[in-house]
Parts: sequence; C-alpha cells; structure tokens
Amino acid sequence: MGHADRRSRLESARARHLEELFELLRMPSVSAHSSSKETMYTCAHWLRQKLEDAGLQAVVDDTDRWPVVYGERLVDPLLPTVLIYGHYDVQPPDPLNLWTTPPFEPTVRDGNIYARGATDDKGQMYSYVKALEVLQHEPDVLNRLNIKMIIEGEEEVGSPSLRPYLDKYKERLACDVILISDSSMYASGKPSVMIGLRGLSYLEVKVEGPSHDLHSGLYGGAAPNPIHALSQMIASLHDADGRVTVPGFYDDVLALSDDEREVQRAYSQSSEAFCEEIGANQEIGERGYSILERTTSRPCLDINGIWGGYIEEGSKTVLPSKAEAKLSCRLVPHQDPHKIAKLVGEHLVRIAPPAYRASYFVHDGGAPYLADPSSKAVEAVCAALHTVWNAEALKLRGGGSIPIVSDFKQVLGADSVLMGLGLNDDRLHSPDEKFGLENYYQGIRACAEALTQLGREDFRAR
Ligand code: BES
Ligand code: MN
Ligand code: MN
Repeated sequence: MGHADRRSRLESARARHLEELFELLRMPSVSAHSSSKETMYTCAHWLRQKLEDAGLQAVVDDTDRWPVVYGERLVDPLLPTVLIYGHYDVQPPDPLNLWTTPPFEPTVRDGNIYARGATDDKGQMYSYVKALEVLQHEPDVLNRLNIKMIIEGEEEVGSPSLRPYLDKYKERLACDVILISDSSMYASGKPSVMIGLRGLSYLEVKVEGPSHDLHSGLYGGAAPNPIHALSQMIASLHDADGRVTVPGFYDDVLALSDDEREVQRAYSQSSEAFCEEIGANQEIGERGYSILERTTSRPCLDINGIWGGYIEEGSKTVLPSKAEAKLSCRLVPHQDPHKIAKLVGEHLVRIAPPAYRASYFVHDGGAPYLADPSSKAVEAVCAALHTVWNAEALKLRGGGSIPIVSDFKQVLGADSVLMGLGLNDDRLHSPDEKFGLENYYQGIRACAEALTQLGREDFRAR
C-alpha cells in the first residue's frame, strides 16, 4: 500500500482528527492544581481508549500524583523498538483575561487552533496517536517495529513520578530509540530535529529585614528594606557583558566547537526578526554570542517572579519585612542542576547586605541533553521531515527543557530524537497558545513517516 493511500486517508479524516483534538483540549488537565484530579483521570482514560482504537494494548497506571498512560504494539523482540513519549498535562491558563477566547474552549482562527495545550503538548502528542491509527492500514510498515507509547501527566511540574516509574518499568519501557514531539520546528515550513535541550535549576530566594511591616513615615530612612536589598542582589547577577556573575557558574560548560558555532551563527535570527517575534525593542544577553547560541547553547539566569510589600489597589505607605523572588537557570552540557542550584543559592545568601538575612529553596529541575547528531535515528527522522515538508531538516539545539529525556538516557540507555511540530512563537505557557492547523495535519504525516523511516533502520546498539 503506497503513501498516496495514506495521504488520502488522512485527508478524509481531517475533520474527525480536529474534533478529537478539540475534545482533548477541552479537558483542563493542569498538573500544577490539585483540583485537577478528576480531569487528569478522565483525560488519561480517554487517551487509553484512543491508543486502543489505534491498535495498541493500553493501560492507565496510578502514580503518587497523576496517572501515566502506556500502550504497546509488540511484533517481535528481534525487531527494533521505538518508544514514543508525550505529556497530556498543561500549564495553568492564567492570566485568563489576556486570552482572546477561553483557554479550554478550543477555537480555530486564521489557520490556528487556539487553546491551552494546543502545541504543548496535546496537539503534538496526539499527532502520533492519529499516525498510529492510519498506519493500521499499512501492516507492512507497522510490522517492522515494536511500538511503545508513554504519555505522562506531570511534565509541566518536573515529572516527579515518572523517574520512579522508569525504574519500576525499566523492562517494559526498554527500547532502542525514543521519539518525542514536544518542541518546535526551526520556522514555519522549515523542519528541524532538536539535538539538544537545556537543563534547569529552579530556586526561590527570600530576603528578610525587620521582624514585621513598618510605617514608612515613622521608620523609613533608617529601617532596612528587603525589596531594596533583593533588587540590588538581583541586579548584581549579570555584568555589563551580560554574563552571569555567580562564581563557578560557567565552570562545567561545554564550549561549542568552531563548526557548531558557525552553524549556529548562520541560522541565528537577526536582531530585527527576534525583536519583532517577542515584541521588544532590543535583545539582551551574553556579548559575543548569536541570539540562537544565547537561547539554546549557552546557560542563562532569569528572574521569573518577584514580590513583596504592597501591590494591591491604591497606595499604602509601608516598609515590607520581606521580599521574595523565583529564579530559573537554563543549563547546558555538562552543568549539573543540583550543583548550580546550590552555587546560586549560596551566592545569594553570601551577597545579602549585612542588615538582611537571605535564604533559598530549590525546586525540581532537570539535566541538559545532547544527542549524537549523526545517529541513524536522527537521519531517519530528518528524512521523514524532508519528505513531509519538502525541505531539508536542520539539526539544532533547543532552549527549553524536558527533564525526563536525560533520565531516559540514564535508565533506558536510549537516545531521544526530538521532532518538533510546533513553532517557537506558538505562545506555549502564555495566553493565546496556538498550534497551526497545517502543523497538526502535516505533523500527523510526519509522525507516520518517521515511524516508516525508523522501520527501515536498525537502531539496536548490539
Ligand atoms: N515542551 C516544553 C519544552 C520545550 C519547548 C523544549 C520548546 C524545547 C522547545 C515543556 O513542556 C516545558 O515547558 N518544559 C519546562 C520544564 C519544567 C516545567 C520542568 C520548561 O522548559 O520550562
Ligand atoms: Mn511540553
Ligand atoms: Mn511546557
């Protein structure tokens, strides 16, 4: 059976494929909220049924937090095995008032599907389910591989349950390669495979001064103000060249080879295009590196939130007793997330001026990842992308994090191939998140094609 049949089958199923994705997008599966419990289970069971409909044997497994959906279609242990990974959980939708249409009422506008999770990761993940469905008509393709699919519900909160799940189900999940669509393409119509992901260290810092809030008229001028101190501390974390000043921060950073630097400079967006995309006047960051290097291959440190004192309506003359901030570091090989979190946390404690006490708390993070860019699996997926988009697929690193990817490598010994189907400006994690209709439909083709190409190769490291 040829690809022409596959294409016509997919074309006649478009309306149904969209309606099913809408059904998935209507479920507010926000992993950060404990009130999501019922939705998380409904969503997991809905996906289990869809995997069954696509010819997999599927189960829903409980964990300490949100359930994992797992399905498999095993042909022969002698054939190579592909594990497909995705996540059904989404980020919180707020601020709600900035959405053009409500986050959990998916809508199509100007060729895009708007909803929380549209691109991250429901749209991309569901593309595989529909690809597996259509491949049921092509047993010659399917029977060349063992297929496993795991869909978790905790990616957006750092996958705390998936790591123990991996250890527990090591045999079940054993595979030769992992296929993931939870990232982006290089640009619209320009496909790419991400050969790297940044890691993450995430901490909160608290600065305390007086034991209680004070009248700013009676005490202002002599009482320590923690907001001032925290602002100074934060301002000192970068130097004039945009480098992070925390001693030791760059110690373990793997320098880019001259060849990779050249590629990254060649494919970096211009300053104009980048500023246009983010709606800013100017980019910032580390001097001497292109924008693409800064956002994918160099580590960085950002404040994600800062609070303290009076922020409600009107004015209130008060000196706050404490100030707090949330801070993330994006890491590159071979930085260690625990080491960096400690380094940054201790540094903040050390630089707090004498009138203040600083303390910190570390959240779940993840290690960076770098794949072998010339592996057979990467080549197979690039070939698939080339076929579908009729354009050469680039191999570039990505700036975001998928913490479980480095655990996959550690526990299962398998590399992940990141076939991004979305776009960087799909506003993931933001209001008006979207996924192009064309990205969805082409994405389904790309998933089917990737599995077809992978069936032609043998990835077992024997
Ligand atoms: N899908 C993203 C990660 C991503 C996006 C990688 C685009 C590459 C390109 C993922 O869902 C995500 O948002 N990860 C978090 C990790 C965190 C919550 C532990 C991130 O990167 O902030
Ligand atoms: Mn994601
Ligand atoms: Mn995300």
